[in-house]
Amino acid sequence: MNSNEKFLVYDDDVPEQAEAAWDKLADWYSARKRGSYEFKMQLPAILNLLGNLRGKSLIDIGCGPGAYSVDFAKRGANVLGVDISRKMLDKARNNAKMKNIPLTLQKADAHSLPYKDDSFDVAILIFMILNSKTIEEAARVLKHGGLLLVSDTHPTLEAKGHWESEKTSAPRIIEDYFSQTKRKWQIRHSPGRIITLKYYTHTIEQCFNMISEAGFEILRIVEPKPGRDVKKSDPVHYDRCSRIPYFIIYLAQKHM
Ligand SMILES: C[S@@+](CC[C@H](N)C(=O)[O-])C[C@H]1O[C@@H](n2cnc3c(N)ncnc32)[C@H](O)[C@@H]1O
Repeated sequence: MNSNEKFLVYDDDVPEQAEAAWDKLADWYSARKRGSYEFKMQLPAILNLLGNLRGKSLIDIGCGPGAYSVDFAKRGANVLGVDISRKMLDKARNNAKMKNIPLTLQKADAHSLPYKDDSFDVAILIFMILNSKTIEEAARVLKHGGLLLVSDTHPTLEAKGHWESEKTSAPRIIEDYFSQTKRKWQIRHSPGRIITLKYYTHTIEQCFNMISEAGFEILRIVEPKPGRDVKKSDPVHYDRCSRIPYFIIYLAQKHM
C-alpha cells in the first residue's frame, strides 16, 4: 500500500475531489447504508412527505448506492439516479438489479446537470452537498410546480459542540450554532485507511433562504424521530435521536 494512501483529504465541494473520495468510499458507504438508523428514520418521513409518486419523473441527485432511489421506484416513480462517482453508480446498479427494480443511472455533476429545463416532477437531494449552485440546478431541471426534497444532517448536530460524556444519555453541548464553517469528517472506511472529507454546513436560516432564493416555496420542514425498529437495532441512536434532532427534511415547490 502506498504510504500516502492512508490519510487522504478531499474537499466535497470540488467535483473532481468528491469523485475521487466517493469512489474510494463506495464499498464502505453502501455496506452501512441500508440497515443504518439514519435510513430507517429518514425513509418513512421522506415517503410520507412526497405522497403519491406513481408515474412521476424523479431525479435523485447524488443518489449514492441508490438505497432511497429503489424505494422511489417501488412507489411507481420513473427514477433517474445521478452521481459523480462511478463506483457509487455501480453499487446502485447492483442494488436495483438484486431487487429487480428499474432505475436509470447516469454519471453527472450536480453543479451542471446535463438535462433540459423543466424536465422532472420531483428532485431529491439526500446528504448531498448543499450550495446555491446545486439548489439552482435542481430548480432549473424541475417543472414549474415540481417538488424538491432536501434531507440532511440537522444543523444543531453539525454545529460546533460535543457530547458531555460517553454515556448514551449524555447531553449534547452546543458551543457555537452560528459558526457553521467548513467541517472535517474523518472516515475510517477500511482498516488503517482514513479519508477526511471537508464540507460546508449551514444554519436552518441559511438553508431556508438558499432554497427560497432559488425559486421555491417551502411547504414543510420535518425533524424525524426514531421508531421501534431503531430502538431494536441501535438503542444508542434511538436514545439520542429521541432527544436531539439528527436530521432535517425540507419539502419545497418550484413556483408556478
Ligand atoms: C453522503 S453520499 C449520499 C448518497 C445518497 N443520497 C444517500 O443518502 O444514501 C453523497 C453522494 O453525493 C455524491 N456527490 C458528491 N458530489 C457530487 C456532485 N458534485 N455531483 C453529483 N454527485 C455528487 C457522492 O458521490 C455520494 O454518492
